[in-house]
Amino acid sequence: MPHQSPRPIVPRSRRLIACAFVCAMVLPAASWAVDWGKTAAAEVSLFYPGQMSWEKVLTASSHKGATKFRAGETCHDCHRDEEAEMGASQAQLTGFAGRNAVTVQLRAAVQGDSLHLQMSGPAVDGKAPSVAIMLGNEALKSTAQAGCWAACHDDAPGMASDSGQKLGKYLPRSRSRNTATGGGDSVRPQAELDVALAAGEFLDVLEIEASGTGERGHVLDKLHMGELVGAASMRIENGRWVAEIQRPLQAAGSGQIALEAGKVYHLGIALHDPGSEGREHLVSLARSLSIGSGSADIVAASQ
Ligand code: HEC
Repeated sequence: MPHQSPRPIVPRSRRLIACAFVCAMVLPAASWAVDWGKTAAAEVSLFYPGQMSWEKVLTASSHKGATKFRAGETCHDCHRDEEAEMGASQAQLTGFAGRNAVTVQLRAAVQGDSLHLQMSGPAVDGKAPSVAIMLGNEALKSTAQAGCWAACHDDAPGMASDSGQKLGKYLPRSRSRNTATGGGDSVRPQAELDVALAAGEFLDVLEIEASGTGERGHVLDKLHMGELVGAASMRIENGRWVAEIQRPLQAAGSGQIALEAGKVYHLGIALHDPGSEGREHLVSLARSLSIGSGSADIVAASQ
């Protein structure tokens, strides 16, 4: 029999104990740090999306790409490299005075049982923004195709059909009546939401505040935010902000997407510059992320 296993198989619990022991003995905490120099930086364009909601994107009278989008083409298929132009035109349309486009660098790595992400970009007046990453798998077609847009609705605060409902982010999957003005308060019963959660039909959200505080949550019927198990930081370096965040690959409960080696996920980045709120943000079109290896916009290689 040829020897199948390239490495001795040590139970994971023993490996963890051994590693924790060695690291505690020999290395300072910072030695867990990823060697970012070994990772490739993906340039991701973010732009100001104005009031272009999920519903408007689906409607032919408000979006020329609606028919093909409905047929399955992704935003990125059609709008790759148009982000800066779209940001400028949406800012003009809605009278938005902040910066309307920016390119950020995204790096990813897997170390041990964690995914590490680093984002960086030019700071405004030496100040850091808050940044969020929404991550999803292929279980829900709408988020795989459109990333953040599946959570961005016409009846959300500051959007065209906002009449004071105070709805935040949600996915159409959580509503029983999705109309041209949004899904409103037609939230499905909890038992149905639980089915969606169990099937991975939601967006898993990581957020890094300008202060460096990290948070973790998910979007389904609304945005649920809570504590981050992992670590996050934000710093300013040579006029650029650098945000880092780490999360376990495994899911620790409902509302978390488990990340498996060799699989491809999609993500969208949202950035709030200092002083901007709600929809006054810069967002990316959906990009792909693979874990360990594989073909995607961003590959989180193991270190
Ligand atoms: C089949 C191609 C196609 C797809 C898919 C598509 N679009 Fe479009 N989109 C267009 C075309 C064509 C226009 C009108 C021409 C233009 O303004 O660039 C447009 C216009 C826009 C605009 C206004 C641009 C401006 O200059 O103000 C935004 C914003 C936009 N699309 C966002 C999206 C988002 C977000 C998605 C995915 C959820 C998407 N589009 C999917 C083709 C597409």
